[in-house]
Amino acid sequence: MATTAPSSDQNPEVENGEESEVHVFSSAAELLEKLQDKWRSVKPQPYPAMYSSVFGGIILDPALMVIPMDDHMVHRGHGVFDTAIILGGHLYELDVHLTRFLKSASKAKIVSPFPKSTLRSILIQLAAASQCRKGTLRYWLSAGPGDFLLSPAGCPKSAFYAIVIDEDFEQCKEGVKVITSTIPMKTPLFATMKNVNYMPNVLSKMEAEEQGDFASIWVDEEGYIAEGPNVNVGFITHDKELILPEFDKILRGCTAARLLELAPKLVEQHRLKSVRTDNLTIEEAKNAAEMMYIGSTLPVLPIIAWDEKPIGDGKVGELTMALSDLVWEDMVAGPKTRRIPVPYV
Ligand SMILES: Cc1ncc(COP(=O)(O)O)c(C=O)c1O
Repeated sequence: MATTAPSSDQNPEVENGEESEVHVFSSAAELLEKLQDKWRSVKPQPYPAMYSSVFGGIILDPALMVIPMDDHMVHRGHGVFDTAIILGGHLYELDVHLTRFLKSASKAKIVSPFPKSTLRSILIQLAAASQCRKGTLRYWLSAGPGDFLLSPAGCPKSAFYAIVIDEDFEQCKEGVKVITSTIPMKTPLFATMKNVNYMPNVLSKMEAEEQGDFASIWVDEEGYIAEGPNVNVGFITHDKELILPEFDKILRGCTAARLLELAPKLVEQHRLKSVRTDNLTIEEAKNAAEMMYIGSTLPVLPIIAWDEKPIGDGKVGELTMALSDLVWEDMVAGPKTRRIPVPYV
């Protein structure tokens, strides 16, 4: 792959072959002016609003959407995160995501600075302030700022950050190709907790992209299918059974959980025979009739080839798309308990 040499703006020392004098900002105003100048040229602005418990409010100026360097999440990875999508001015499955978020925090021994109801209220107010009607909401709980040591004992207060990202996404209809990941999987403690240490996930995604494929599949030490780098995975057998890997060693995806609730509709219509979670070997999985990734913005992405071999007939699966329609419909017009209206002002 071709690489571009850094411009002198990015790395003057490399370009000039000699040390250049590092600028010292004389005032906060000078730095702010520079940051705001940078953001002025970014159109459209992708981050309409951020919340920081460190600042104690919502920030609309992207130049100030920052977190402290001595936050333990920054330099030790001691933080957890979660998401929710904003679609048609509603927050989809926010409560389910928040429940998982607080479970992750508890496993990471991070005590939230606010109760769940306050976190929820902040996120809804943030979505309203953002004016965003289609995008993603991402939020983090961190051990908080304090020092640069390993122990968080010197961090007096945990921190909550959240950001809205204006993002366009549609129901996925094209199939993608995947590979088996060679990057070691996280152990169950870390895989079941949505913590900020995504290095294996990043490398696993990059590995697939380097081969011209979309993403990868993790297979555990016993040879059972696990998940993708930021998605769950599902299979339809030739007997029309929908099978998702057990969630004991992987992240319990909110989309996968909702899919498992909705899929029995296809059983009632006699299109699927059954719906279950089970351990699948790589051989069983590769012999599936259909295969899919499952995750928040997809919500279901058909997989048509794995390690260069077609899945089923190598075309987008009919039942995969029927499942995708069920979840997409739920996201767009599902029950009110699943879709929180954003009170835009
Ligand atoms: C490792 C991993 N597995 C699965 C998922 C899918 O989860 P969800 O459906 O909640 O987006 C994600 C998404 O963040 C993930 O990071």
